[in-house]
Amino acid sequence: MKIINIKDISSLDNINPEIIDRIKNGSRCSLTKQYVVFVDKISVANAAIDFYPVEKGYLVLYELFVSSNNRRQGIGSKILLKIEKIAKSNKYKKIIIRPKSLNKNIPEENLKKWYEKRGYQISKVDSSCMEKIIS
Ligand SMILES: CC(C)(COP(=O)(O)OP(=O)(O)OC[C@H]1O[C@@H](n2cnc3c(N)ncnc32)[C@H](O)[C@@H]1OP(=O)(O)O)[C@@H](O)C(=O)NCCC(=O)NCCS
Repeated sequence: MKIINIKDISSLDNINPEIIDRIKNGSRCSLTKQYVVFVDKISVANAAIDFYPVEKGYLVLYELFVSSNNRRQGIGSKILLKIEKIAKSNKYKKIIIRPKSLNKNIPEENLKKWYEKRGYQISKVDSSCMEKIIS
């Protein structure tokens, strides 16, 4: 597997149009930080993370989108691990996600299973969310 780099957005030049579309159309709040993910300098995915105050203990992975022709190559899994590292290094203890399929070909149930395989569990507080303790 080639090296994956996850970067803050500095410009949208040379970014895959599918990813630009997600960045422009995804909802966000003042806490949201957008990242673009590159494999060998080619943009393959984007991620949006809501950085809540660290005292809350969790951050929210608001969106993870791998562009359609780069799926099923292990990229999404690697990005998730990178995000868990980012969360840990910023002293968060938990990651929360609300799995919501952005692709009509991927049923929500499959998405939940995808996260489940990667250690995320349905939240006891809000069943529309999944979470993973990372410390
Ligand atoms: C959900 C999503 C992020 C997964 O990304 P991905 O890069 O395809 O994920 P991976 O490649 O790591 O895993 C996908 C499957 O491919 C398999 N896979 C991994 N490497 C592989 C390879 N080299 N060859 C074939 N299959 C492979 C994995 O085992 C996995 O199957 P599993 O779920 O049964 O374990 C991606 O499908 C996506 O962006 N979907 C649309 C956007 C969306 O709805 N996002 C959710 C917002 S919460």
